[in-house]
Amino acid sequence: MKKIQISPSILSADFSQLGKEIKRLEESGADLIHVDVMDGHFVPNITIGPPVIKTLRKYTNLPFDVHLMISPVHKYIKNFADAGSDIITIHPEATENLVDSIKLIKHLKKKVGVSLNPDTEIDIIEKYLGEIDLILIMSVYPGFGGQKFIPKIIEKIKKIYQIKKKNDLTFDIEVDGGINFSNSKEVISAGANILVSGTTIFKENNGNIKKNIETLRSM
Ligand code: DX5
Ligand code: ZN
Repeated sequence: MKKIQISPSILSADFSQLGKEIKRLEESGADLIHVDVMDGHFVPNITIGPPVIKTLRKYTNLPFDVHLMISPVHKYIKNFADAGSDIITIHPEATENLVDSIKLIKHLKKKVGVSLNPDTEIDIIEKYLGEIDLILIMSVYPGFGGQKFIPKIIEKIKKIYQIKKKNDLTFDIEVDGGINFSNSKEVISAGANILVSGTTIFKENNGNIKKNIETLRSM
């Protein structure tokens, strides 16, 4: 079983102090930094783009786990790679040709992730699972932090974990949305090895990030 990693989402951070917040996350034991990129088109919210990622790059050596909730996504992949992303995760619905987008991310020597929205079935990406480094399972409808975890996603995580084991594949299983102290254990037991969290990490225990990261990981 892979070590459980925590990827705090900066969507819940203080956007006026993002550099400092990222340093705080690193000092508090984060394994990755989850950067939620939204365009107001693929999802009904707008956040940041490549210029901000570029300026944030110097604040940490932790991997930037960049979640692109944008469409069309293919033509922007290189911008995000050049800005300093380490993992580039895209939604299959956001690209004309998923194979080409996966190939491009790999050509740019970045790790490739594919994200499944709550209502997107596994079968649309099953044949690509051998090509990708990470599957990002959405446990909320993308666009906002602070939403409630969708319980039906547990079965989806289990199903993907079974496919991974049966085919002896190595991709990471990352779960994103509404992760908290009462569901993280079940999410990990279902087969996730990376947890994304924004609200729980930044808000619980009076914002004691170190304690919140340790608690999530220890479940
Ligand atoms: C939602 C984002 C998630 C979100 C997680 O579209 O992809 O990463 O920020 O935030 P919480 O942990 O608050 O649900
Ligand atoms: Zn995300």
